[in-house]
Amino acid sequence: MTENFQFTLKKTDAGARLGEVSMPRGTIRTPAFMPVGTVGTVKAMYLEQVRDTGADIILGNTYHLMLRPTAERVARLGGLHKLIRWEHPILTDSGGFQVMSLSGLRKLDEQGVTFKSHVDGSLHHMSPERSIEIQGLLDSDIQMQLDECVALPAEPREIERAMELSLRWAERCKIAFGNQPGKAMFGIVQGGDVPALRVRSAAALTDLDLKGYAVGGLAVGEPQDVMLKMLEETLPVLPTEKPRYLMGVGTPDDILKSVARGIDMFDCVMPTRSGRHGLAFTRRGKVNIRNARHAEDMRPLDDQSNCTASRDYSRAYLHHLVRANEALGGMLLSWHNLAYYQELMQGIRKAIAEGRFADFMAETQAEWARGDL
Ligand code: GUN
Repeated sequence: MTENFQFTLKKTDAGARLGEVSMPRGTIRTPAFMPVGTVGTVKAMYLEQVRDTGADIILGNTYHLMLRPTAERVARLGGLHKLIRWEHPILTDSGGFQVMSLSGLRKLDEQGVTFKSHVDGSLHHMSPERSIEIQGLLDSDIQMQLDECVALPAEPREIERAMELSLRWAERCKIAFGNQPGKAMFGIVQGGDVPALRVRSAAALTDLDLKGYAVGGLAVGEPQDVMLKMLEETLPVLPTEKPRYLMGVGTPDDILKSVARGIDMFDCVMPTRSGRHGLAFTRRGKVNIRNARHAEDMRPLDDQSNCTASRDYSRAYLHHLVRANEALGGMLLSWHNLAYYQELMQGIRKAIAEGRFADFMAETQAEWARGDL
């Protein structure tokens, strides 16, 4: 832990980076997976369990929290960490992405975005400055610039317009954020599936000398090879001494391949959302626990895991719970999936430290391909 926000790159191996992001509330071991706690809860999980799986940081969402319980109320209650009982770092997304995917009626211009709340239909305006203000009221440790992410496929001119707007908003967010030594504001690279736009976005953000950089606008409808190609175009333009965060990604396979291209941080709803729907990610690939073949299988999902949900509960019971729509089914599978994701990250970090990341990646992929136990 440090007084200042600080990134240390410890080692590079086969394109993958081992590092540490330190700040007053804790240290994030990278490559890191950040569980998503959209409305101040990692759905269906106790934060003690989330911590025990190995999470160093979780996410919160500006969009959701500004609508309910509101940023001002969170501030009056002593900040998000105190309210939700998580003393470690929290990263908040800026709201732009969620406005686009969740709110009704929205109007976007140079000043910001006006939108209708999905909670009660009320009208709200969010400017880059207001997004940073809200993230400050939440007392977020890593704040994200307000950006505009376009869904793919899209016209190059539309992608360029949104990318340029996001750059101007990055400058405004940097000014609004000011100098906060123990915290960071990250810029977000946009540019869709157009390499030249990605490069321009990354170069302009680099000139702003921010504390970290996210790659946004990916996993929004494009195939995996396009996403990986965009990483290959973008990452060499970003400074090596700053952390790189790939937003909203992804499957275990996406993570492995993105680490191989130099990504340090990930977040995704996949482990928790899929868990609530009965899908488990395991050492041996994906397992749909609703499948009839599990109905009388008293084996656990993975007897070699350290996680109680993975090791001590039978597939038969998980199958029954999920089929009966019982809350415990979603709880156990979310727990299992987050444990698996963190186990994967732990394996990745150990492999980089030992200089065998390429072998680890090949072995991990071969295990997934073998299929379920
Ligand atoms: N989450 C996933 N992708 C994005 C993005 O492009 N921008 C923001 N702000 N959040 C995201």
